[in-house]
Amino acid sequence: MFESVEMAEPDAILGLTEAFKDDPNPHKINLGVGVYKDEHGKTPVLASVKTAEQRILEREQSKGYVSPLSGTAEYVAAVQKLLFGADHDIITARRAVTAHTPGGTGALRLVGEYLQKNHAGATVWLSDPTWANHTGIFEAAAVPTKRYAYFDPATNGLAFKAMTDALEQVPAADVVLLHGCCHNPTGVDPSPQQWGKIADLLRRRGIVPLVDFAYQGFATGIEEDATGLRALCDAVPELLICSSFSKNFGLYCERVGALTLVADGPLTAQKVLSRVKLCVRRSYSNPPAHGSQIVTTIVGDTSLLAQWQEEVKQMRDRINGVRKLFAESLDARGVKLGADGNAFITRQTGMFSFTGLSKEQVKSLRQDHSIYIVASGGRVNVAGMTGGNMGTLCDALAKVV
Ligand code: LMR
Repeated sequence: MFESVEMAEPDAILGLTEAFKDDPNPHKINLGVGVYKDEHGKTPVLASVKTAEQRILEREQSKGYVSPLSGTAEYVAAVQKLLFGADHDIITARRAVTAHTPGGTGALRLVGEYLQKNHAGATVWLSDPTWANHTGIFEAAAVPTKRYAYFDPATNGLAFKAMTDALEQVPAADVVLLHGCCHNPTGVDPSPQQWGKIADLLRRRGIVPLVDFAYQGFATGIEEDATGLRALCDAVPELLICSSFSKNFGLYCERVGALTLVADGPLTAQKVLSRVKLCVRRSYSNPPAHGSQIVTTIVGDTSLLAQWQEEVKQMRDRINGVRKLFAESLDARGVKLGADGNAFITRQTGMFSFTGLSKEQVKSLRQDHSIYIVASGGRVNVAGMTGGNMGTLCDALAKVV
């Protein structure tokens, strides 16, 4: 059976981490995978998470299955509170249902399974560019994808007119995937006004938004970063939202996320949830509990919630500080990454900056300098930069650009 199997290409992002681990160069730098690192290059466990874990350990009596298999009522409430804000109409009207998933990727794959089984023919429209794994996830679920314009290399910003022109061509009942904030890989988000226009367009055309929300809190703040999502909620009757708590809770390896579906009314929402539960049961049966207990404990406790929000702010502030340092260090070496210099780096939000480096330049960074970045568009994880590695990085960039 196995003799004829061909070797697959390494993953465009996680494959870099594997190659980085094997690189013996002591000055190597990994700016590939989107994982937050502190000034010492470490990915910390948040203090609020440690406290929550201690409480969980003390009170835990059983390792029985999560019930219902779509997630506990407490976790569902925590997820919906972060998405919509406490007491939002969608919550009180019971228009939202949530399934607890293994990470944001698990939520996206569940969307794929759900669409394929229940809305065959729907195409998912992805931004150009988008997260490298989006295409593969929907392909694996046998859901067709198409692209809409998003990024303008001339300004390193949003190609808003081209984007809305493309969305005007999307057929009704197709699904448009939007990044809730901190667009991956470009770091370029619509303004609140542009979100309003996108929401109106989708409502007018009967298009269903799918919001991939993996970086809430990394742009401006937990509440502020939900501006786009909430504009959509005000405009359209139905939407799908994939949450990830890998980044904002630092729970990468715990695989904690959620799929939330908003319907026009509570009965429809329950019918949809029953279909989602079938997909869960036939895929991974039951979600992993530990990470969700951490999120539930933090969001449900006023002082832990405040501590977590402060920790998210510290991560955000560090990233923004490093963006500034990165732009200044490039300027100091006369290296220009954008058409109009490096100012775009501080305009972008979240973990990523889309440098526009060519595949050859990315290859040279890796082969000649042991610096690992994502090949497509030269995406760098700004959160992997530190005061300690900035000089090495910018010297290398000065050589390859
Ligand atoms: C990334 O884009 O680097 C992160 O979302 C991690 C991943 O799974 O790819």
